[in-house]
Amino acid sequence: MCGIIGTTGVDDALPILLEGLHRLEYRGYDSAGVVLVSDGVLWRARRADGTHSVEELFSLSGTAPAGAHTGIGHTRWATHGSPTEENAHPHLDCTGRLGLVHNGIIENHSELASELVAKGHTLTSQTDTEVLAHLVEDNIAGGASLVEALRAALLRVRGSFSVAVVHADDPEVIVAGRRATPLVVGIAKGGTLLASDIPALLGRTRRMIPLDDDQLVELRPDSVRITTLDGEEIEPDVRTIDWDLEAAQKGGYDDYMSKEMHEQPQAVADTLLDRRKPDGALVLDELRLTNEDLERIQKVFIVACGSSYHAAMVAKYAIEHWTRLPTEVDIASEFRYRDPVLDDRTLVVGVSQSGETLDTLQAMSEAARWGAKVLVVSNVVDSSMARKADGVLYTRAGPEVGVASTKCHLAQVVALEILALTLAQIRGTQPAEAIALLLDRMHELPDKVEEALGRAKEVDAVAEAIAGARDYFFLGRGVGFPVALEGALKLKELSYLRAEGYPAGELKHGPIALIVPGTVVVGIATRNGLFEKMLANLAEVKSRGATVVLVADDDDDEAAAVADHVLWVPPTEPLLSPVVNVVPLQLLAYRLARMLGNDVDRPRNLAKTVTVE
Ligand code: G6P
Repeated sequence: MCGIIGTTGVDDALPILLEGLHRLEYRGYDSAGVVLVSDGVLWRARRADGTHSVEELFSLSGTAPAGAHTGIGHTRWATHGSPTEENAHPHLDCTGRLGLVHNGIIENHSELASELVAKGHTLTSQTDTEVLAHLVEDNIAGGASLVEALRAALLRVRGSFSVAVVHADDPEVIVAGRRATPLVVGIAKGGTLLASDIPALLGRTRRMIPLDDDQLVELRPDSVRITTLDGEEIEPDVRTIDWDLEAAQKGGYDDYMSKEMHEQPQAVADTLLDRRKPDGALVLDELRLTNEDLERIQKVFIVACGSSYHAAMVAKYAIEHWTRLPTEVDIASEFRYRDPVLDDRTLVVGVSQSGETLDTLQAMSEAARWGAKVLVVSNVVDSSMARKADGVLYTRAGPEVGVASTKCHLAQVVALEILALTLAQIRGTQPAEAIALLLDRMHELPDKVEEALGRAKEVDAVAEAIAGARDYFFLGRGVGFPVALEGALKLKELSYLRAEGYPAGELKHGPIALIVPGTVVVGIATRNGLFEKMLANLAEVKSRGATVVLVADDDDDEAAAVADHVLWVPPTEPLLSPVVNVVPLQLLAYRLARMLGNDVDRPRNLAKTVTVE
């Protein structure tokens, strides 16, 4: 997730770009950069100073050419290539006369890069983006106009993109296009603007045109021309935005948690992008281990805290089932001090959204000290854990602001299941067809998550019906157990209600004593090999007066028969089901917390990243 800004004709471009970048920093701030078109040349400035990147650009203002009215800018959240100045956008072509910024992931960048290098282009960064600049350059050299050159380039790429490009030969023009990541055009007095979101443009204009997928736009000071990637003209749909700035930063949602829950389909899709090479081999982002190292592994530990720990628990089921490798899951603060048995045939996987949680970081160091191979699943490129590990798999969820994790948790489950399939492939424990089929099923998950999110109103009705209860139990079996734990954690941290997650079969060994009329039991009852047993456990609590809420597959009447309320979800493969099943539980916790008037983005006593023991 990165931020894009552009302006032509409105006023001095630099202050507009810097103000826009400042507002887009929530989309990432590993680096920031701008390109201005001035007197037939490009002026570029880039900085990679983390949270200070945009500020550092401000300090360069004095060296910028005066009077440039056209330019584009970018704030980066690194996916391909470390967060260095060399990888910062805008990227230039070989002539230095074309500047380009991009948000998204170009899946086929490696093959395009090989082709461009063979043609004599020099690529200077490790990003997936830079190939776009050179593809456009190539098309211009072949006689295409800037817009046609970008169109032809975008027709060749796989993946997601919002992209904007300027050229010194066309000093007042910005050409941009999008697929699957956002871009909005602004119409102001004297000129036009472009940004990844509405808030970046508020203050300059309220008249905006949101672009749709596979559309291109040509911005000039006095005109906006929109076409589809296929060349069909589109009548611009100009809207007047009446949100205030704070509402706009939350994308029209009431809070970041809502916004981030709704970004989950994208987070899952982005985490899946670019994982399969044309020959079917699965790839991690950074792997400083050989296939032989991974073949020699005899045992896996997965270590994490909080919601990341629940994602790790799901992965245990997947790794053991698909690879037959014994897998232990541990809470980082326990793992570190309990003298775990590790050697160079042990794989230790740290799971951490931030990549900075102290307990998990120290657990990784402890594992490395014993000679274990260390892999990290993190949402932040070059985080402390990512730098230390032998291999990294990034979740590409974009920055998460809400303290209680939502989109990062879903992306972690997906990333860990990719890791499980990668191990199965390398160790030959699953046939190629089975792996291909599971990957296909994984690619269906974004749509299923979207469907589950689309049922928020039905979840709200269930929340209204059970509100007022004092005690909540969340029950699951198999991969439903970590889902139950995550559902209970979300409810606890957001609503401050007493909620406990439990393995359904274990309830009768103690906690069932707490079930009285009025206790709410939320059961994860989608179909898997333990479905019948799950229903039997639910009958046990129902007969003691509990109000039963079930997460169940669409149209499953048998499940519905034991429930007082049903949270319906679209069915999927049992081992993948946590990605979908956790969504109604997030929505339920959210609604109950809102009904109690709680701040869902900043629950009391909690922190987003915990860097103390
Ligand atoms: C905090 C956050 C949780 C998160 C946990 C682990 O407790 O509030 O949402 O799951 O830390 O964080 P990590 O960055 O290591 O995933």
